[in-house]
Amino acid sequence: MINQRYARITGWGKYVPARVLTNDDLAKMVDTSDEWITTRTGIKERRIRTENDTTSSMAVAASREALKVAGLSPKDLDLIIVATSSPDYLLPSVASQVQDMLGAECGAFTLVAGCSGWVYALTAASQYIVSGAYRRVLVVGVEIISFALDFTDRTTCVLFGDAAAATVVEVSDEPGGLLSFELGSDGSGAMFLYVPDGGSVSPMSQRTIDERRQYLRMDGPEVFKFAVRTLASSLKRAIYQAGLTPDDIDLFIPHQANARIIEAAARQMRVPLDKFYINLDRYGNTSAASVPLALVEAFEEGRLKDGDLVAMCAFGAGLTWASAVVQVGTGEVSAAHSLFSVGRARYLARRASDAVLDTAQSALLPLYSFLYQRRRRR
Ligand code: ACO
Repeated sequence: MINQRYARITGWGKYVPARVLTNDDLAKMVDTSDEWITTRTGIKERRIRTENDTTSSMAVAASREALKVAGLSPKDLDLIIVATSSPDYLLPSVASQVQDMLGAECGAFTLVAGCSGWVYALTAASQYIVSGAYRRVLVVGVEIISFALDFTDRTTCVLFGDAAAATVVEVSDEPGGLLSFELGSDGSGAMFLYVPDGGSVSPMSQRTIDERRQYLRMDGPEVFKFAVRTLASSLKRAIYQAGLTPDDIDLFIPHQANARIIEAAARQMRVPLDKFYINLDRYGNTSAASVPLALVEAFEEGRLKDGDLVAMCAFGAGLTWASAVVQVGTGEVSAAHSLFSVGRARYLARRASDAVLDTAQSALLPLYSFLYQRRRRR
């Protein structure tokens, strides 16, 4: 009999750069004020990378913490998914940098879905687990969005910050973990939030520098309308899909873009605002790191206890959105999914046979090459 598998969050960690940029600091750089930023967004300060921070180093720091909480070593991981729109390089995939720096021995890929990236990645990780393919997946949301900010443009540079947050998702046979989700995309809104140059449509050129086209551009009011429309409705659909109502949810973790967007969602859902976790005042919008960073801090502050129901929703460039309902608590990894399960045995056998084939192939390679050269010489 195949036991039902559940994907539970068993570890969490964060990394935020040491450098703090306050609203008053920004008021010295562009024509803005603490009063404008606070009343229009709720943001007071944000973190900006130091010269020692890279996207991969920040992801690794957060991941090490998450692995410690889960009681795992990097070698225990079956897969790493890194959600980001600001990788170290266009190529290679930053997830492979993270895998190497951690010393993990598993597959790794980068997922790009704007600010919704980590929620997308969480749902992907859960599918690998409930299908029986993998047991332990590291899911990271990380962003050095400051490199794409134009610090002469007051309409964007005040909104964002840099951060990393990581979670470990593990198999369990105790009901819980990811209960439901909704993923959405509306590419017709692509130009509301985009970076004009640096992709295949418009590679970097002199015009890029002259017209500052390497920086993020945003139609704030359009994104605002989209966010207000989407946050409450997507959260509600995910909650109903889990067979719950908004009243059942212990904590809402919304994307930390703007306090006014969160207040509008709370009003629309008739949920008291204090049920919505908010840390955007300290970090601003950290894009793909935003929802996991809030989740990590909610755990750290004791706002979540075993069995609590959490509803999360992110939205961003794409346009994309993603909601997930999760029951927190680590649960037990049962014998059915432990080292001796059929799925696990099959997986280990496949890895062993791959390793034998790899070794045989590399051992035979010089012989093949010798025979090939000899045939050519004749
Ligand atoms: N300081 C002072 N004045 C400013 C600033 C600033 N930092 N920014 C804009 N203004 C001015 C504008 O120039 C405008 O002046 P004008 O009336 O003389 O033309 C005025 O303030 C009002 O501008 P609006 O854009 O209408 O201001 P609004 O109240 O809509 O707030 C904001 C702007 C905060 C950007 C809001 O639209 C917003 O939060 N949008 C959503 C942004 C968002 O969530 N983006 C991230 C999506 S996620 C991702 O994937 C990255």
